[in-house]
Amino acid sequence: MLERTLHLLALSGSLRAASFNTALLRAAAEGAPDGVIVTLHDYRDVPLYDPDLGLPPGVERLRAAISAADGLLIATPEFNYGIPGPLKNAIDWASRPAYRSPFAGKPVAVMSASPGPIGGARGLQQLKTVLLGMSAVVYPAPELAVGGVGEKIVEGRLVDAVTAERLARLVAGFAAWAPGARFDVA
Ligand SMILES: Cc1cc2nc3c(=O)[nH]c(=O)nc-3n(C[C@H](O)[C@H](O)[C@H](O)COP(=O)(O)O)c2cc1C
Repeated sequence: MLERTLHLLALSGSLRAASFNTALLRAAAEGAPDGVIVTLHDYRDVPLYDPDLGLPPGVERLRAAISAADGLLIATPEFNYGIPGPLKNAIDWASRPAYRSPFAGKPVAVMSASPGPIGGARGLQQLKTVLLGMSAVVYPAPELAVGGVGEKIVEGRLVDAVTAERLARLVAGFAAWAPGARFDVA
């Protein structure tokens, strides 16, 4: 039982309306335990990274949302074995200054989904590495890489019971772990 409401910010690695990964995050929000609120953040207003732009409004909004959250849930496809450009771009904007950014010390749980057999697991591992580079505190396990997602998410709804159970376990486990997760940069 949580002592207070936990606010988790959800970022999808896909911007398209019918995204499987965004649908996975919606399912995570719906299946979250009592006292856990999952809010999807649309970051399409974040421009291409260029420090000469200062802090554009979309970047300020993203950084403020990350700072205010108790933890992050990220679900992403892999694009050509890696992190999709829009997600990496948004993360890079929020990653400065190094070691003191909104990501520093922030608990993050990651998952991925793909119609392919390994569920975007290569992109998922890359994302973990990138998060570690920003001193985020990455939830170690369980992780969730949903392969063959086209049969498991239909018309935007998670219809596969096994995946739903694994997703619920991940969100509940992360919510229990995140409040005590710490990382202080030396
Ligand atoms: C540019 C591009 C590259 C892709 N590369 C991969 C890949 O390396 N591995 C994979 O499993 N799927 C790959 N896919 C397929 C995506 O996993 C699939 O389109 C998925 O549905 C995208 O996620 P979304 O449904 O959340 O938008 C790629 C798709 C695109 C558009």
